[in-house]
Amino acid sequence: MEGMLKPGSLKDKTIVITGGGTGLGRSIGKYCLELGANLVITSRKKEVIDKTAADLMQETGGQVLAIPADVRKYEEIENVLKQADQRFGQIHAVLNNAAGNFISPTERLSHRAFDIIVDIVLKGTYYTTLAAGKNWINKKQGGTFLNIVTTYAWTGSGYVVPSACSKAGVLALTRSLAQEWAKYGIRSNAIAPGPFPTEGAWSRLLPGDLVKKFDPAERVPLKRVGEHQELANLAAYLLSDYSAYVNGEVITIDGGEWLRSGGEFSHLEAIPDDVWDMIEKNRK
Ligand code: HXC
Ligand code: NAP
Repeated sequence: MEGMLKPGSLKDKTIVITGGGTGLGRSIGKYCLELGANLVITSRKKEVIDKTAADLMQETGGQVLAIPADVRKYEEIENVLKQADQRFGQIHAVLNNAAGNFISPTERLSHRAFDIIVDIVLKGTYYTTLAAGKNWINKKQGGTFLNIVTTYAWTGSGYVVPSACSKAGVLALTRSLAQEWAKYGIRSNAIAPGPFPTEGAWSRLLPGDLVKKFDPAERVPLKRVGEHQELANLAAYLLSDYSAYVNGEVITIDGGEWLRSGGEFSHLEAIPDDVWDMIEKNRK
């Protein structure tokens, strides 16, 4: 639950975080500031990012620039990057974190509902990546992308199909550019978090009484959800130069959740000790 990297690990690095005003983006941003980074946060709601910027500057003493933008609008992303360059001189890393999601049987979705998730998650990520990558390549400087996906990017999942399709695309983007843009000194990695409580995710994925019926911790072999600092530690490492040789990787941080859903006999944890005693006695 403590910060992992040594003080100054991100000193003078400028990091752009999409969706940086709330939830996991905010927590990762706060830790980056504590490690000496300058932060640029962006999302649609100006009042939210303005308040986060003011709070984080007060809490950490770091510099935060808040610029409203919709990641679905390429010109708005270009404007964020331009202003970030003007203010801090150079951008070193981009955290593609903005997302939209909801649960629904797929056959109940309108095509517009599918579009809206793909547009935010996949298009928003490749717009931001394209704009930042072109900027770095033109200026002959390197950079680091870190993309937040989730484990159903590779397992798929019912009831969140637009998000699963989009996150799978983001993972393909991560691995593809790790190969293509390494020659420009640009690294691309991803993190696949399991359940980390945030207002944004919980309100949309466990609305109403669902939160009482489906405790996300129950699905996790470690029997708990993640702590934001645990994720922030991993993210800060992947954004820092300590991970300079990590490229094209997706690191899962989910307490073993996704493997558990595939382990054919893992449900045997429901068998109590006295039954195991009996099985052992019979065997002997
Ligand atoms: C079905 C829905 C819907 C829902 C909206 N729509 N909500 N369909 N179920 N719950 C449909 C609408 O009817 C409409 O289609 C279309 O989607 C657009 O809806 P709007 O309300 O106009 O969109 P907008 O106001 O832009 O809101 C976007 C949003 C919203 C994605 C729907 O939830 C949002 O702003 N989310 C941002 C933050 C977020 O989602 N955070 C959670 C990330 S958690 P029609 O046809 O009616 O026009 C996450 C976790 C992953 O990703 C892994 C967890 C383990
Ligand atoms: P969150 O607080 O709702 O974060 C989503 C952010 O994206 C919000 O700040 C939102 O701000 C921004 N956003 C949405 N649409 C946008 C748009 N069109 N343009 C710009 N910004 C936009 O939820 P979270 O849980 O922290 O999620 C953060 C990331 O973690 C997401 O990529 C999510 O898929 C991933 N994730 C979360 C969990 C979890 O358990 N929490 C698990 C796996 C993966 P505005 O509304 O102001 O635009």
